[in-house]
Formats: sequence, structure tokens, C-alpha cells
Amino acid sequence: MSKEKLIILGCGYLGSAAGAALLRSPRHRERFGELIATTTTPARAEELERLGLSPEVMELAEESRLRELLAGCSAGLLTVAPAK
Ligand SMILES: NC(=O)c1ccc[n+]([C@@H]2O[C@H](COP(=O)([O-])OP(=O)(O)OC[C@H]3O[C@@H](n4cnc5c(N)ncnc54)[C@H](OP(=O)(O)O)[C@@H]3O)[C@@H](O)[C@H]2O)c1
Repeated sequence: MSKEKLIILGCGYLGSAAGAALLRSPRHRERFGELIATTTTPARAEELERLGLSPEVMELAEESRLRELLAGCSAGLLTVAPAK
């Protein structure tokens, strides 16, 4: 059976810390095959990839893209910071 996917929407300071902790967790690795992490900036996507996450560059307002990503995941964390 293929492993589940988890998504971190808005993977900044808090999301990266959560993602890194999940990647270190044997329980997480047993259950989840991929940890998707979203950002709005391509440079940040490279950093997320270096952490071992699967980056997606997107804005929350991209509704169809968001639905598509969420449809493939069985769990998620929402760590988008509110607009200033
Ligand atoms: N930092 C803490 O210690 C802490 C503690 C408790 C609670 N919080 C709360 O947790 C939330 C996240 O904090 P943080 O420190 O992790 O913030 P952060 O480092 O600024 O990360 C926020 C993330 O949200 C993304 N984002 C912002 N606007 C977006 C939009 N319109 N569409 C899609 N993604 C968007 C950012 O994209 P980019 O990657 O492109 O910037 C970034 O990945 C905030 O509400 C904060 O108040 C933070």
C-alpha cells in the first residue's frame, strides 16, 4: 500500500520547524511517504527542498491548485501568517 501524504500550508518559520520534527519522527516516516510544503517564493522552495520537504510555490488564493493539493493529502498543518 502506498504511503500517505501530509501538507504544510505556509511553510515559514513555524512550518519548517514542524516539518523538520516530523521528518525526524520514525512514526511519521512509517505512515507518510511525502511531506509537501508550500511557500510563495521560489528561493524559499529551494530551502524547503534542502530540508527534505517537497515544495510547492503557491498562494492560498489559487483555489483550484489548493484543492488539487489537498485532495492528495490525508493530513495537513496550516501555518500561513496573516497578511500584514
Ligand atoms: N513564529 C512563532 O514562534 C509563532 C508562534 C506561535 C504562533 N505563530 C503564528 O503562526 C503563524 C505562522 O508564523 P511563522 O512565524 O511561521 O510565519 P512565517 O515565517 O512568516 O511563515 C508564514 C508562511 O505563510 C506563507 N504565506 C504568507 N501569506 C501567504 C499567502 N497569501 N498564500 C500562501 N502562503 C502564504 C509564507 O510564504 P513565504 O514562504 O513565501 O514567505 C510562509 O511560508 C502566524 O500566524 C504566527 O503569528 C508563530
